[in-house]
Amino acid sequence: QVSRDYLTFEGMRVPSNVHTVESLTYAWKEFVTRNDDVFNVTFPKSGTTWMQEILTLIYSNGDPAPVKTEYSWDRVPWLEQYTGRSKLENRPSPRLITTHLPFHLFPQSFFKTKAKVIYTIRNPKDVCVSLYFFSLIAQFLEYREDFQEFVSLFLSKDMFYDGWFDHVKGWLPFNDNPNFLLLTYEDMAKDLKSNVIKICQFLGKELDDAAINSVVENSSFKAMKDNEMSNYSAVPDYIFSKAKGSFHRKGITGDWKNYFTPEREEEFNKIYQDLMKDVNLQFS
Ligand code: A3P
Repeated sequence: QVSRDYLTFEGMRVPSNVHTVESLTYAWKEFVTRNDDVFNVTFPKSGTTWMQEILTLIYSNGDPAPVKTEYSWDRVPWLEQYTGRSKLENRPSPRLITTHLPFHLFPQSFFKTKAKVIYTIRNPKDVCVSLYFFSLIAQFLEYREDFQEFVSLFLSKDMFYDGWFDHVKGWLPFNDNPNFLLLTYEDMAKDLKSNVIKICQFLGKELDDAAINSVVENSSFKAMKDNEMSNYSAVPDYIFSKAKGSFHRKGITGDWKNYFTPEREEEFNKIYQDLMKDVNLQFS
């Protein structure tokens, strides 16, 4: 059994089972960014694992061997988790790096480099539903049995990684930067191929059409759900309880409509309109 305790670091709450003050300090202040680093940045449940797969496949020129032989967390490791330093420090370039860090705790060294950030956002109501189910599986996360109560947790100041609203509002102003690419889960779900082409252009990777098609095929929901290197089935039951569901749950857009009561939807919309009033974002 693991604990569901959290720690607070510079105002950000995170599960203390996966993070330590040392690992967060390392990510923020000590990590040495290289010019060719590529960061996969998300608020949790926004398509992090999907982007890990896409990036691995782009850097293998569409060859599926790496995604089929190495765990996602080893191919595109998490920066801020306690394993970050050991997995990243001596890694050959170019490094593909995953992080949920908010903008204000992003590696300070990044801002003096030409390293790139891909920030993927997802409709927060779908994030909320996805996270509700994931927090039942992941034994180190705060959870609520009742979904409507979980919505309150999601909207509260207690939500991890600064909460969806502050996370997105912290990162979006960086959108003017040429080394920043903003993507949405919804656009990727609608047309993955054109988004893969966009990512390749952003990264300066020239892949031919067959390679692009291989990236698209091997990062489909079905391919990833069946891939033991990406579907987290290798994680022991006391951490990810398989009896409670699977990591690759539905992989669709708009699932929130099946879970929000009209009252909860109205409350969510009100908070969204208030907190996001100065932000222009559309989720198709
Ligand atoms: P659902 O719970 O809505 O199914 P993250 O990787 O950031 O934790 O996000 C997990 C969510 O992304 C889950 O959403 C998961 O099913 C979905 N997902 C993972 N791989 C995907 C893929 N290839 N295509 C679409 N959705 C995917």
